[in-house]
Amino acid sequence: MAKLDASLSGTFSIGGDLTVNRLGFGAMRLTGDGIWGPPKDRDEAIRVLKRLPEIGVDFIDTAESYGPYVSEELIGEALAPYDKGTIIATKSGLTRSGPNQWPPLGRPEFLRQGVMTSLRRLKLERLDLWQLHRIDAKTPRAEQFEVIAAMQKEGLIRHAGLSEVSVADIEEASKYFKVTTVQNLYNFANRKSEAVLDYCEKHGIGFIPWFPLAGGDLVEGHEKARAVMEKHGASGSQIALAWLLKRSPVMLPIPGTSKVKHLEDNLAAAAIDLSDEDFAALDAIGRA
Ligand SMILES: NC(=O)c1ccc[n+]([C@@H]2O[C@H](COP(=O)([O-])OP(=O)(O)OC[C@H]3O[C@@H](n4cnc5c(N)ncnc54)[C@H](OP(=O)(O)O)[C@@H]3O)[C@@H](O)[C@H]2O)c1
Repeated sequence: MAKLDASLSGTFSIGGDLTVNRLGFGAMRLTGDGIWGPPKDRDEAIRVLKRLPEIGVDFIDTAESYGPYVSEELIGEALAPYDKGTIIATKSGLTRSGPNQWPPLGRPEFLRQGVMTSLRRLKLERLDLWQLHRIDAKTPRAEQFEVIAAMQKEGLIRHAGLSEVSVADIEEASKYFKVTTVQNLYNFANRKSEAVLDYCEKHGIGFIPWFPLAGGDLVEGHEKARAVMEKHGASGSQIALAWLLKRSPVMLPIPGTSKVKHLEDNLAAAAIDLSDEDFAALDAIGRA
């Protein structure tokens, strides 16, 4: 197996002053079915989290809505006080009315409650990166963006980001606060956010592709991807992540898993250097 060291993926400075190794971890899967309640194997979830600093993963994405609260509480339990320098990025802006249900709510008092209670669950005094999980269509946008700017001024949030947005959304929010990351669905086969990624690259905004493995079987059904995989003796997940890392220097993939074995499999992607030819073969799949 290739060396497990997230620093091999290179670094990115969020907002110009918060440097992380580019290959991170998404903590949404440390919950029950439908991202609801506790994980089936709590001990393994804790083992996954404790393994992260050992293999150089210093960027973890979570949200108050994962569980809800479960993912943040597990992170606080396993990793606080973060003496290895782990950076936790969290989010608010979605309510949970049951498994797989995520109604957005952008009322300023709810966003503020999210920040205040994330601080408690994560055992932090300031959130290094807080992201608006969704812009709520039922709440005036100015109210959502203003409270983010206010919480930044008050020192509750260091950097702020957005999720599932267009270039126009980023430009509008940027009138209120500096948008330092954008988190949109993106993988080599799903390129709907290509224009957003290009915008982020141009403006030095970190781009966090969620669903980077499309749930774990991205290579299935793609002959050309399988050929690249076999050439490198790598797993499908590793090839998908290596492609993302090569696609842009602002790319911060956060593959998610509830198992140490899959975490280690994914981390080995940091050491894979795809040739331009391999990159192009995968690139063509998403552009077809
Ligand atoms: N902003 C948003 O709206 C949004 C939405 C969704 C997710 N996210 C964030 O993005 C992160 C990643 O997204 P995601 O979890 O939906 O998608 P993903 O990382 O593409 O896929 C995760 C799934 O793939 C499986 N998997 C992971 N590594 C594997 C491996 N090496 N071999 C086989 N299967 C593997 C996992 O199952 P096992 O547990 O069995 O390994 C899990 O079910 C989340 O954790 C979350 O932080 C953000």
